[in-house]
Amino acid sequence: MSKRDRKEAIVFGASMGGLSQNNAATERSQQHQRDGYSESVPRNYERYFVPAIGAPLAHDLIRIAALRPGERVLDVACGTGVVARLAAQAAGAPGSVAGLDITPGMLAVARKTTPPAMAIDWHEASAEAMPLPDASFDAVLCQMGLQFVPDKDAALREMRRVLAPGGRLILNVPGPTPQLFAIMGEALARHIGAGAAGFVNHVFSLHDTAELRKLINGAGFRDVSVQGMSKTLRLPAPAEFLWQYVYSTPLAGAVAQVNDERRSALERDVVTKWQDFVKNDALEFQVRIVVATARK
Ligand SMILES: C[S@@+](CC[C@H](N)C(=O)[O-])C[C@H]1O[C@@H](n2cnc3c(N)ncnc32)[C@H](O)[C@@H]1O
Repeated sequence: MSKRDRKEAIVFGASMGGLSQNNAATERSQQHQRDGYSESVPRNYERYFVPAIGAPLAHDLIRIAALRPGERVLDVACGTGVVARLAAQAAGAPGSVAGLDITPGMLAVARKTTPPAMAIDWHEASAEAMPLPDASFDAVLCQMGLQFVPDKDAALREMRRVLAPGGRLILNVPGPTPQLFAIMGEALARHIGAGAAGFVNHVFSLHDTAELRKLINGAGFRDVSVQGMSKTLRLPAPAEFLWQYVYSTPLAGAVAQVNDERRSALERDVVTKWQDFVKNDALEFQVRIVVATARK
């Protein structure tokens, strides 16, 4: 794994505590723990992000993949494993599932969260250079991962290489930036810094259907289909969701470095502007999900 790959992805494994360099930061970190947030971003990701966003999208992806019992499935950029576990249910006992991710902390939570009876092989590696044999999978899945991979062409070529002839690729990416997240990104830029806002932009950076089709065709796939679809998601109340999202993502590291005034200002700003999205005490918003399917 190259140094550049690690730099790109390691942030998902960041810990708030590890970034606490002074007493004020340590106090904030203790307050976060009292609020129920773990010091570990991957643990928060599994606990908060997955039920609110990851799982609803994973169910859609698995439905589109139409996996059959006995299939061999690879989940690329598997994170804490929500897609891999649903794939294991669909492929059943005669099938097999592997998950691959560059961030050790995400894989540690994936391993811990997966029931022992569900034998999933976990691999720590970059999608750009997978330590997996040629033609060894019937389906490759990738949920909300390709936008983070620096060399997308290399990753797609690797996904094609490990597929058996006729094998399917099914991936999704979100974007463009929904209004709810644009508001958060602007507030992060004002109160935390440009780097934090940049993360939100990165999440929604790969959504152009023509660009994605070109990338997938360029990697040698056939029968390429790329379609945008609208998904309505219901999230917790504004302040709750803001901090859940922050502590489930690399934003945790950036927010741990500012003082309480700036954190309070961020919350006030975002919560006020999110009121338009509140329905029955919860946030509701629509996000466009681009789903791509193709064959080797
Ligand atoms: C938003 S998470 C998605 C995780 C999972 N697919 C899900 O739906 O919950 C993005 C994941 O991409 C992983 N990632 C980023 N760059 C990567 C790379 N070059 N190779 C493999 N995984 C990568 C991160 O470690 C992170 O777990």
